Amino acid sequence: MAQSIFCATFLVFFTLTTLSFTLAFTQQNYTDAFAKSILFFEGQRSGKLPANQRVTWRSDSGLQDGSSANVDLVGGYYDAGDNVKFGLPMAFTTTMLAWSLIEFGTTMKSELWNAQAALRWSTDYLLKAATTTPGILYVQVGEPNSDHRCWERPEDMDTPRMVYTVSPQNPGSDVAAETAAALAAAAIAFRNFDNPYSQKLLQTAIYLHYLLLN
Ligand SMILES: *[C@@H]1O[C@H](CO)[C@@H](O)[C@H](O)[C@H]1NC(C)=O
Repeated sequence: MAQSIFCATFLVFFTLTTLSFTLAFTQQNYTDAFAKSILFFEGQRSGKLPANQRVTWRSDSGLQDGSSANVDLVGGYYDAGDNVKFGLPMAFTTTMLAWSLIEFGTTMKSELWNAQAALRWSTDYLLKAATTTPGILYVQVGEPNSDHRCWERPEDMDTPRMVYTVSPQNPGSDVAAETAAALAAAAIAFRNFDNPYSQKLLQTAIYLHYLLLN
């Protein structure tokens, strides 16, 4: 008994030691890992997919998003494995992606355009969410409880696409502030590439900022 426990312990120790040596001395291909991490965003796309979509097992979905509130909220990203479009994690992700482009865009080489497309897919949606109805920020599409019980892919989903909003009367400063931060960061990321778009992002960030304060 004691001997087998010793053997098992030794085996675990030996395996972990070997594994850590292997990991430490194996060349990792970060170019490949980076390209795949940007490609991942295309698998999460909601809305009408463009002709240059590289993740081709995905197709158009969520084309009626917003219709329950008589507005157009098509586009943006699905959250994790869900079909819900959650405003807060989407805005946070967008902020991080924008900061990555600001800090490291010049070293991204051929991935720069893909990373910018990933950022723009989100900011196009956040602009819609912030400017469709004055005084209202749309912060979510999809009903989480029914969605989390549903295994359908977005292309086939038939769960309720409820629309959630925040406003000065029904505040949600965390999501509103994060959305303003995402738009402001993206304005910097696009400044030297598409100045009119950058200006629009900045103006909308400022507008959201005032919406929060008033
Ligand atoms: C790393 O991955 C990229 C992209 O897949 C590839 O073009 C490149 O040859 C790889 N580099 C090495 C050293 O394997």
